[in-house]
Amino acid sequence: MADILIIFHSQTGNTEKLAKAVAQGVEETANARARLLRAADTVAQDLKDCNAVIICSPEYFGYMAGAIKDFFDRTYEGLKDDAAVYKKPFGIVISAGNDGSFALSHIERICKGYRLKKVQEPLVCKGKATEEVLAKCRELGSTIAEGVNAGIF
Ligand SMILES: Cc1cc2nc3c(=O)[nH]c(=O)nc-3n(C[C@H](O)[C@H](O)[C@H](O)COP(=O)(O)O)c2cc1C
Repeated sequence: MADILIIFHSQTGNTEKLAKAVAQGVEETANARARLLRAADTVAQDLKDCNAVIICSPEYFGYMAGAIKDFFDRTYEGLKDDAAVYKKPFGIVISAGNDGSFALSHIERICKGYRLKKVQEPLVCKGKATEEVLAKCRELGSTIAEGVNAGIF
């Protein structure tokens, strides 16, 4: 059973919709289950326990959401040398008004510090979540879950 952790923060609901679509994609995959957690409620053990993690953040002021950064701040020291996190697959979904590149690059850099493994191209979703965007989020969730189950990561 692939346990996929989806960590998100959302103030006005856009990123939450994307994160829920990612979770739906995971749940639609055989032998996979999604754990959807707000970043503020996520602790280091959650990252240790999952088989892959997908981080969903809005871009605020050219950066990731403060709650996502807070999650990294709270957990990095305890996890940076932890074998349970080494090469764990990760994906990223960014929700942005018109850019998203800054939030993305900072999250990617931090994920490198955790020694997580990039297994899918990140999604940067601009504006409201259209059906097309939600479908891409579902696909990201199912692709990562399938990859974990197939042992290809
Ligand atoms: C305080 C604040 C700062 C923002 N800064 C940016 C920004 O720097 N770049 C950008 O593309 N969008 C920016 N936006 C737009 C949000 O990224 C976008 O509306 C996103 O979908 C919000 O996600 P949420 O509904 O999950 O909170 C900002 C929005 C807010 C509320």
